[in-house]
Amino acid sequence: MTAQQRIVLGIGGGIAAYKVASLLRLFTESGHQVDVVPTESSLQFVGKATWEALSGRPVNTSVFEAVEDVNHVRLGQDADLIVIAPATADLMARLAAGMANDLLTNTVLASRAPVVLAPAMHTGMWENAATTANVATLRSRGITVIDPAVGRLTGKDTGAGRLPDAEDLFAAVQRFLPPPTQQKPPGEAAPPSGETALTGRTIVVSAGGTREPLDPVRFLGNRSSGKQGTAIARAALAAGATVRLVAAHLETDVPEGVELSTASTALELRDAVTEACQGADAVIMAAAVADFRPADYAGTKIKKVGEDGAPTVSLVRNPDILAGLVGHRRQNPDAGPGLIVGFAAETGDTHGSVLEYARAKLTRKGCDLLVVNEVSTTLGFGTEDNTVTILAADGGPEARFAGTKDEVARGLIATLGTLLNR
Ligand code: C5P
Repeated sequence: MTAQQRIVLGIGGGIAAYKVASLLRLFTESGHQVDVVPTESSLQFVGKATWEALSGRPVNTSVFEAVEDVNHVRLGQDADLIVIAPATADLMARLAAGMANDLLTNTVLASRAPVVLAPAMHTGMWENAATTANVATLRSRGITVIDPAVGRLTGKDTGAGRLPDAEDLFAAVQRFLPPPTQQKPPGEAAPPSGETALTGRTIVVSAGGTREPLDPVRFLGNRSSGKQGTAIARAALAAGATVRLVAAHLETDVPEGVELSTASTALELRDAVTEACQGADAVIMAAAVADFRPADYAGTKIKKVGEDGAPTVSLVRNPDILAGLVGHRRQNPDAGPGLIVGFAAETGDTHGSVLEYARAKLTRKGCDLLVVNEVSTTLGFGTEDNTVTILAADGGPEARFAGTKDEVARGLIATLGTLLNR
C-alpha cells in the first residue's frame, strides 16, 4: 500500500514549468503530500494560484514568508524527497555553489532527503562547460540529475534539453521514495493495487524488435515499436521496482530511471536477457524476437545479378529465449527468476481461437504467465492502445486489460505484484 510521503516539488524558472502541473497531479493522486516551492522567476511561467490549487497547500517562494513556521528549515527537514523540475542552468549553478538565496535553495541545503533534478533548457546551455561542471558537482554529492530528453525545444530547433514527460518523471522518482512504512487509516480509499507492490524487486523487461542482418545494409525485422514493453518498464518503475530494460530496436523513448542494455539480434538479446536475469525476481519478455535469421551473412552488400535474378535467402532457427529461461530455471530452481512472463501476438483462424492457440503456447513455452494480444495490421503493433488477456500456467483466473499501453502495463504490473507478494 502506498504510504503517504512528503515531497517538496521545486519549480525552476523555465517554460517547461507548465508540464510539472501534470507531475504534481500524479503525486497527489498517488496520495502524497506535496509542498510546491517555486523560484520567483518561475512564477512568470506558472502562477502561485495554480500550485496552491493543485497541491491544496500554501505556496511560498521567499524565506521571509510564513516566517513563523521557520519554513526554510522545516520544509527540507520534513521532506522524504525533493524533486526539482524544470531545473534551470541558473538554479543548478546556485545549488552547486551551495547558495541559499531563496526558499528553494534553502530547502535543499537544510534537507537530508534524496534530491532529484530534472533539467530543462536550450541545448546550448545544457552542453555549456559551466553547466556540465555544475551537473558533475551535483552528481558527485549524491544528487540525481536526470538527463533531459532530446526533441523539439521552445524555439524552432531541436536537441537535448527537453523536460521528460510527467509520466516518465513520475516513474523515474518512484525508487527514491522510501518503502511504505505506515498503513492508511481504515476507511481511507486503497490505492490501485500494485502501485508500490514491487518495492525492492528487480524486474527485467525486454522490448522492441530484433533485426537479423543479411548484409551490411539489409536486415530481416518486424513491426514491433517497443511501446508496450517500455510502458511495462515505466509501470514497474512506478510500482517501486528496479527495472532492467533490455532494448532491441525501439520506436519510442527509453523511460528515465531504467538500467538499460541494448541488443540488436536475437542472439545478442538472449545474452543480454540472460545476464539481466541474474538475481532478478521476474522477467517479462515483451520483445518481438525473430524466430529465424539468415543462414549466411554477406560481408558486402548483396548485388543484383542480371536483369531479373534474385538471391535465395536460407534461414536458420534462432534459439527461443523464453523457453531457454524456463529450461534453465527447471534445472536450477533457486536461480530464478521466480516469475517468467511471455507474450503472444496471436491471430485466430478456422482451426482455433486466439485464446486456444495462446493456451497451447503457454503449455509449450512453460512460462508462468502469458500475455496474449490479438494482432492484425491495425491491432497491437505500433498502435497507442492495446487489449490483452493474461493467462496463468497455474490455472489462475484470466485477467483482461484494455486501454492505452500504459494502462495495460499497469494492469500487468498489478497482476505481477500480487503474484510475487503471494
Ligand atoms: O512463439 P512466439 O514467438 O509467439 O512467442 C512469443 C514469446 O516468446 C515472446 O514473449 C517473445 O519475447 C518470446 N520469444 C523468445 N525467443 C524467440 C521467439 C520468441 O524469447 N526466438
